[in-house]
Parts: sequence; structure tokens; C-alpha cells
Amino acid sequence: MCGIIGYAGLSPALPYLLKGLEQLEYRGYDSAGIAIMEESGPRVVKSVGSTARLKERIAGEQLPGSVGIGHTRWATHGAPSEANAHPQWAGPLYIVHNGIVENERVLREGLVADGEVFASDTDTETIVRLIYRTMKGGSGFSESVRRVLSLLEGSYSFLIAHADLEEPLIAVHRGAPLLLGACTHGVFVASDMTAFPVEVHSTIPLEKDDMVTIRADGRFEIISLAHSREREAKLVSRSHHGVHGKGEYPHYMFKEICEQPEMLGALLSGKIRRENGLLNVRFAAETEKVLSRARRIRIVGCGTSFHAGLLGKYRIESLAGIPVEVDIASEFRYRNPILDPENDLLIALTQSGETADTLAAIRMARASGVPTLALVNVEGSTATREADASIFLEAGPEFGVAATKTFLSQIAILTLIALRLSSDSRLAERTGLSKGGILEAFLKIPMLLDKSLSLSTGVTGIARRLAESRSVLFMGRGGDFPLALEGALKLKEITYIHAEGYAGGELKHGPLALVEEGTPVLSLLSPDPQLVPKMVSNMKETLSRGAFLISIGSDHYLDEFSPVSSMSLSLPDCPPVLFPLVAAVPLQLLAYHTACFKGLDVDRPRNLAKSVTVE
Ligand code: G6P
Repeated sequence: MCGIIGYAGLSPALPYLLKGLEQLEYRGYDSAGIAIMEESGPRVVKSVGSTARLKERIAGEQLPGSVGIGHTRWATHGAPSEANAHPQWAGPLYIVHNGIVENERVLREGLVADGEVFASDTDTETIVRLIYRTMKGGSGFSESVRRVLSLLEGSYSFLIAHADLEEPLIAVHRGAPLLLGACTHGVFVASDMTAFPVEVHSTIPLEKDDMVTIRADGRFEIISLAHSREREAKLVSRSHHGVHGKGEYPHYMFKEICEQPEMLGALLSGKIRRENGLLNVRFAAETEKVLSRARRIRIVGCGTSFHAGLLGKYRIESLAGIPVEVDIASEFRYRNPILDPENDLLIALTQSGETADTLAAIRMARASGVPTLALVNVEGSTATREADASIFLEAGPEFGVAATKTFLSQIAILTLIALRLSSDSRLAERTGLSKGGILEAFLKIPMLLDKSLSLSTGVTGIARRLAESRSVLFMGRGGDFPLALEGALKLKEITYIHAEGYAGGELKHGPLALVEEGTPVLSLLSPDPQLVPKMVSNMKETLSRGAFLISIGSDHYLDEFSPVSSMSLSLPDCPPVLFPLVAAVPLQLLAYHTACFKGLDVDRPRNLAKSVTVE
């Protein structure tokens, strides 16, 4: 979604803005623009398409101005065009904006009736015109911003620059994430910290209703509009862990897939502890507290996070015996769910910590007195600030729009939660293993992921076949069903091939009608003695209708699924409850290689954004 970067200080702003915009590309965008406050007057450059194009447009210009704002736009109000790209302006004011002003139409109509002529279709232009009109009525810059804020409805943030004044920048957080970044030569403002240059040593996450006035030399003041007073800046020192480029990898997505064994190893070593000679799962005290009182768990998430939540339901219900309901966050918030503060725990899954619908679900739960636990990858994100407790995914920055390592971390942590809440007797009954036995096996999963990664020849063979397909069906039973949904999502997100995930048992209730000569059907087979024969018979049903059968299953059952498959991948054996962790990797690789064969932009699929901060 849209990205904001701004700078005020002692150095020229332009290089920082261009680099920041490049770093924000991963969020998804369709146009970009900058405004630099020069002595001779503001210089605005905008471009549809890539930030590289924006750079070309400005190449060779000498722009020493040390105050500037920049933006990557993901179109909401108005098509992607130069006119609609940000910055928008009115008089000496230049603005970049994230989020949506919901009452924009009424406000715009009022302005048009008063004779304002708009140059764009954006709600952003409405904001800047309103502020400029208020200034023309005699109010100062910051006073005008405040007055206009009281008219705007919705969840948004913006950064506005004044061409003439001593205090040239004002940043406002009204629900869409915004941070300040401090360094020795000035201050940065950005919608996420990846946009900050390395010299930013500390960040200050802004809170909802914060308004920051920034002076030309980089000094700033944060006012909490909710409390009508200055607020102390809480500096968070910045970790540069994992913030580096693609290195030798052709794409971020491939790099992020390959980082998974190491990432999972580090995650597990922090959560699985040996106590008195026995392995056990431990979380931070506040997490332990909310988990221990949960009698029913409500999981919410969107996209990949929702699929991780579904897998969590299978694990927590089966291993811990606690009922779990899983909702798509955008449905949860509007379907009047019955929340029980005595018994419920809401677990919000959101790698970014900024997904608008998931945040709304957290707020609903809190308003009903239900404790909330967020599984989040971004420290300091809104979800971590608003939930009662958080578990960090510890996946490091993820730039590919398609979630990979954050999904793996989510399903690993949900499985750990299930194990934490399970009793030894229940676990033995469900898995035939002791808790120690499962945790020993869990600690070996990073090694098995390494083996999954090395299956790349087999994977590329399948990917070559999928690249020629128009539609692919994924199917699985038990925990493999959510994984089938996720495998299909990965494929459609980055290859634009129609793909659907189904529960094996649902095949005859509809999807079988889609199978014709050559239709690829990809089956997932955890080493579960109860489910493997059922899956194999589902596979045969599609085979007799002409399907091209691909299977990904455990080595242990290779003799069962390989003879009926045209192509198969056998994965190292592990307990069935851990199999999705191992099988997620070849599914990600399949989507990745298929997109590469099709020559597509793997890291930035069309129309999609990494973090969806509007409804
Ligand atoms: C977008 C991203 C997906 C992600 C989903 C939820 O659609 O492209 O990769 O799964 O948002 O994001 P969240 O940050 O809440 O996990």
C-alpha cells in the first residue's frame, strides 16, 4: 500500500527520498512522486510506474533542498496517473497521504460549490485544499491542520510540507502507521522503517492522534491531539538485523524462502527450553498469562495469515483440546461475533501488524473485554502496541509481497502454542509421542527444511509444467487442507494462474467438475496413516477424469502416492503434526519458479500490496 518518506535536516533531501521510495516499493505501488523545498521554490516530480522512472526524470538536476517529502501510491481514489500521484498541493502546501478519508465526497462537493477547482480525483487533494483555505482565513499552518483534522473521517496519516515557513513539515497519525527516525543530521518520517537510511539510529513510533511539527533543522515536537498536550518522544533504538538487500539472490522472495531453515532454528531455540532435563515450550510472561486463561480461542487474520490461523485451529483443537474459531478479519469485524470476556482469547495474526481489518478485530475484542494476543513480525507496529500481549515472528524483514517466512513462523508458533497448552496424556493419545519426543522432532525441522530446499530440480520440473496451465487444483486433508489453500494462494498471487485449494473430501462436492484432460491437481500427503489412503483414493478419482497428478508427500508413504502421480516430490519423514512446516517450502518454491518461467515480477505482483492498511 502507499508509502511515505520525508526528511528535514542539514543534508540534501533528494538522495534520501529516492532511496527511501525504492525501499518502500515492496509494499506495492503504481506511481511515485517527490517534492523538495528549494530556495527558488518547491520542485515536484511525479511518475506513473516504477521509482526508477521517477529517478530518470530527475536525473542531472541540482536540488540541494534539505526538506522534502516523497510517496509511493497504491491507487484507491482515482486511477494510477500522474495527476493522482502524490504529492498533491494547494498554494504553498504539499502533501503525501496514506489511508482513506471516508467523507471525502461530501467535503469535496462543499469545496467545489465554493469554487475550488480540483486537479486530481484524490481525497489527498481535498485535505490540502481544506488546510490551505483555512490558512487563507487567517489561521497559522499548524492551527489550520488541526482544524481540518476535526472534519476528516477515516483512518489515515499524512505528511505536509510548507514551502515558506520556519517549521516546514507537519506529520499526522490518524490510524495509518507513521514513524520518526532520528539521526545526527536531521529527522525522517516514514510509513515503515525500511525507508530509513542506515544512519537512523533510533525510531519513534507515532501513536494515533499524534501530530508532529518539524523544524527545518530537524528538531521536532510531538503533540498528542487526544490529550491536547506535548508528548514525550519514546526513542526505540534501531536494529539493523536482516536489513540488507537481495545479495546474490535474483529476488527477495527466493532469498526469503532460503532463509527459512536458519530463521526457524533461531525461533525454536528461543521458545523450546530444556528444564530439569525435559524439553518444554515457554513464552514471555504476559503471553503465558493470556494463554493460561483461554477457554476458547478466536483467531483472525487476512490472506496468508488467515491460512496460518486455520492450521492453528487444527493443531490447537486436536493437541490442546481447546475450541478454536477462525475468521477472516474483515468478516469478523462486521458479523457481530459473540465474544465472551470470561473465556475467550483473541489471537490476531498479522505479519505487518498494520492490516486495517485485523487491527479492527483487535479493537473489537478489547472493547468487549476479551484479552488479545498478536503474532507480529514488525516490532513497534500498531498491533503490538494495541494487543495485550505479542509474540514476535522473528522472521526478519520480508520484502516479497507474497508472504513466505512469516507464514512458516506463524504456523510454527501456533503449533508451539498447541503444544504448550496440551497435556502429556492428550498428546500421547493424539500423536503417539511424548511432548519431549515431539519437541525433539520439532528441533530437527530446520534441518529437514534444508533438505526440502534442495529438491529444487524436482520443483522446477513441476513448475515448468504449471507455467503452461490455466488452472491448478490443490488438495489436502487435515492440516494439509489449510496448506493447500496457502499453496493455491501463493500460485495465484505471483503467477496469475487460477488456483484453488480444497479439502480432499470436498472433491466430489464440486471441484471434480473442473477436472478435464491434463488439469494439474496437486495433492499434499502428511504421513498420517488414517488420511493417506483417503487422499490416494481422491487422487485416483481425479486421475480417472484425466487429471495430471502431482503429489507432495512424506517419504514414508512414497510407495502409496508415487505410482498414481505423474510427478511427485517426497519429503523427509517427520511427525504428521509437523509436516506442513516441511511441505510449505516446496509449495513456495513451486509458485516462485512458475512465476520465473512466466517472466513475471515475482516480488511485486500486479495489484497487490504487502501491507493492506485500508479496508
Ligand atoms: C496482504 C499481503 C499478504 C498477507 C496479507 C495479510 O494481502 O500481500 O501476503 O498475507 O496482506 O497481511 P498481514 O500483515 O496482516 O499478515
